[in-house]
Amino acid sequence: MRMVVLGLGYLGATHAACMAELGHEVLGIEVVAAKRAQLAAGDVPFYEPGLPELLKRNIDSGKLTISGSYGDAADFADVFFIAVGTPQKKGEYSADLQYVDAAVEELVPLLTRDALVLGKSTVPVGTAQRLADRADELAKDINVEIAWNPEFLREGFAIDDTLHPDRLVLGAFGGGAAEVLCREIYAPIIDAGTPFIVTDPATAELVKTSANAFLATKISFINAIAEVCDAAGADVKAIADAIGYDDRIGRRFLNAGLGFGGGCLPKDIRAFMARAGELGAAEALAFLREVDNVNMRRRTRMVEKAREMCNGSLVGKRICILGAAFKPESDDVRDSPALNVAGQIQLQGASVTVYDPKATANSKRLFPTLDYAESVVEACSKADAVLVLTEWREFVEIDPIELKKHVRHANVLDGRMCLDSGFWIASGWNYAA
Ligand code: UGA
Repeated sequence: MRMVVLGLGYLGATHAACMAELGHEVLGIEVVAAKRAQLAAGDVPFYEPGLPELLKRNIDSGKLTISGSYGDAADFADVFFIAVGTPQKKGEYSADLQYVDAAVEELVPLLTRDALVLGKSTVPVGTAQRLADRADELAKDINVEIAWNPEFLREGFAIDDTLHPDRLVLGAFGGGAAEVLCREIYAPIIDAGTPFIVTDPATAELVKTSANAFLATKISFINAIAEVCDAAGADVKAIADAIGYDDRIGRRFLNAGLGFGGGCLPKDIRAFMARAGELGAAEALAFLREVDNVNMRRRTRMVEKAREMCNGSLVGKRICILGAAFKPESDDVRDSPALNVAGQIQLQGASVTVYDPKATANSKRLFPTLDYAESVVEACSKADAVLVLTEWREFVEIDPIELKKHVRHANVLDGRMCLDSGFWIASGWNYAA
């Protein structure tokens, strides 16, 4: 089938390449010229394992083409995916929908045939209805159907999550072609046994926000337990393992530590709270404010722990931060807990050197005043404390005996509880997590 993907950021580039991989003819629209040129050359402007190869293969075969023109988009197909960003508004909790709105405002007046517009971006409940009303106003003697088809991909696993999702969700208004067309678009995925859930648009929008809110709640739950463990001298990892054996709880997303960051969970729970407030249901989601509070407290606590390790003061200390990305297998530093901690430690008078295998360039843009190293050893040279804040495999595999030769004081703070504590302690390190 021919289809267009509007917006080639993280979500759009992955979706476009994966749809081409399924055999569709895809036109990707990216309005930022520099990004477009990079992608057209098969070069992905962010780190996502496997995506450069997938993108290049499908560009070379002609299945995927890239353009900056909405006119090209309107001519190319009758199915359009909206995959633009919905960041948090500056100084507010709610989502900024200007890019989603702009996609509809620009595309619909150019359409000359009936069309289906499928939203993939994460949006507040009620957005599809509002866009459907607007599309009706903008459409010229044609029928433009709006439906919502949220995406659940994780950075670092984006291709696998798109081609082998846990479920597909479609929120459609009755009487349209959305369900039939989606069954055709996703045929290989549905045929493989993937549940395909069809709802109304408001429900589909809420499925996505509820999923992210639940994941955030799960992480903050275990981090709240970690606070109690800290006070009681108990082992939060053992608790997560033990309760995780209960199928109703499950072990995944119960890793205590520095908490969640990135471009999705933090802004999505805030936008969810804001929208619930607008709808008069603020009380229902009041607990999400505490989920956010627990999460943000992890960062302050990490700074306190680093100060405790350095005998009560960070002034003049050399601190090595291992990890800057918000999670491993990503170069994304949006709302990165690691960089947030690095910044706070620097403000308390320490000299901070950061090393990350992939996220250094993005980190430098966001925090140019921190020092950056090219390797673990360089970052740790003469350090008073080493903080592991993103659980990259490279850090999990560090040889503590070897690293000890390079630091001034063998203090290690394991912000992701990912190191073999027994081995580090046996190697002469003062270990805390
Ligand atoms: C998240 C969701 O997991 C995806 O399902 C969703 O599609 C996506 O947001 C989105 O809305 O686009 P992502 O932001 O890529 O995906 O990252 P996650 O893997 O969810 O991790 C988020 C944060 O939680 C990371 O900072 C990670 O370190 C932290 N985390 C995760 C923990 O602190 N503990 C855990 O046990 C798991």
